[in-house]
Amino acid sequence: MTHVPPTADNSDALPILQVRGAAKAFDTESGGSVCAFEHLDLTVTQGELVTLIGPTGCGKSTLLNVVAGLIPLDAGELTLAAGLTLGHTVGYVFQRDNLFPWRTILANVAFSLAMQGLPRREREARARGLLSELGLSGFEQARPYELSGGMRQRAAMAQALAIQPELLLMDEPFGALDDRARGELQQMLERLWQDLGLTVLFVTHNLDEAVRLGDRVVVLSDRPGRVLADISMHDLPRPRDLLDPRFTDRVVTVRRELHKGKTDG
Ligand SMILES: Nc1ncnc2c1ncn2[C@@H]1O[C@H](COP(=O)(O)OP(=O)(O)O)[C@@H](O)[C@H]1O
Ligand SMILES: [Mg+2]
Repeated sequence: MTHVPPTADNSDALPILQVRGAAKAFDTESGGSVCAFEHLDLTVTQGELVTLIGPTGCGKSTLLNVVAGLIPLDAGELTLAAGLTLGHTVGYVFQRDNLFPWRTILANVAFSLAMQGLPRREREARARGLLSELGLSGFEQARPYELSGGMRQRAAMAQALAIQPELLLMDEPFGALDDRARGELQQMLERLWQDLGLTVLFVTHNLDEAVRLGDRVVVLSDRPGRVLADISMHDLPRPRDLLDPRFTDRVVTVRRELHKGKTDG
């Protein structure tokens, strides 16, 4: 079955996230300041999987932290769809999992539901269901250190999905994995996104990954990050074939845009 996601210009689609003219700078220890991003605009609509690609240090993680409500913007506006707040409706998956090392995998996934006031049995049932979806049945009672990196990231995805997030933020979640595990998790994410109707903002610095997963690929410049291009991938059928010339052409397009954003030196 071919997935038909909403088109980028589908005006009926509900914007889940809108960022306008956003800027964020940090004070440095030497008394100066470093601007992570500026003049940044971004919209993510319901049901989209948007990949955000840019060189290291261009403010990608900072932007996700802003969207998650962990740090404020210096300038510009950020609007989440009504009722969205971190912990309740925004899920976050980091490059390294945030699992509590002393808790079992099941308890880790169920824990994020405790704050929602769900009864224990229901929490555990939902956690078991998600662990099974992510191929972790049989590992419910394992501790994080007993799992491979790929399995831990799957558990982290289950943890983020347990709250049934309206927006899922993913910060280079597969960046530390080998090619095979990375491919498996990309496939798993794509399937979950389709089955659960997720809305995802996915940060990567890997070109193949950006084009393989994105409905749109948003390309950021070197620091201070701003949007260089917003490239639609809607016409590439899913699941995407990395050897298809249409795929490789699109990777070249993204690479060119990234190159344009390089600052001298
Ligand atoms: N808490 C912080 N304090 C000071 N500087 C920071 C902080 N967080 C990020 N930065 C700086 O902001 C810039 C963007 O960082 P980051 O968002 O992590 O980039 P990316 O995720 O794209 O690699 C970098 O120069 C980084 O050093
Ligand atoms: Mg980062």
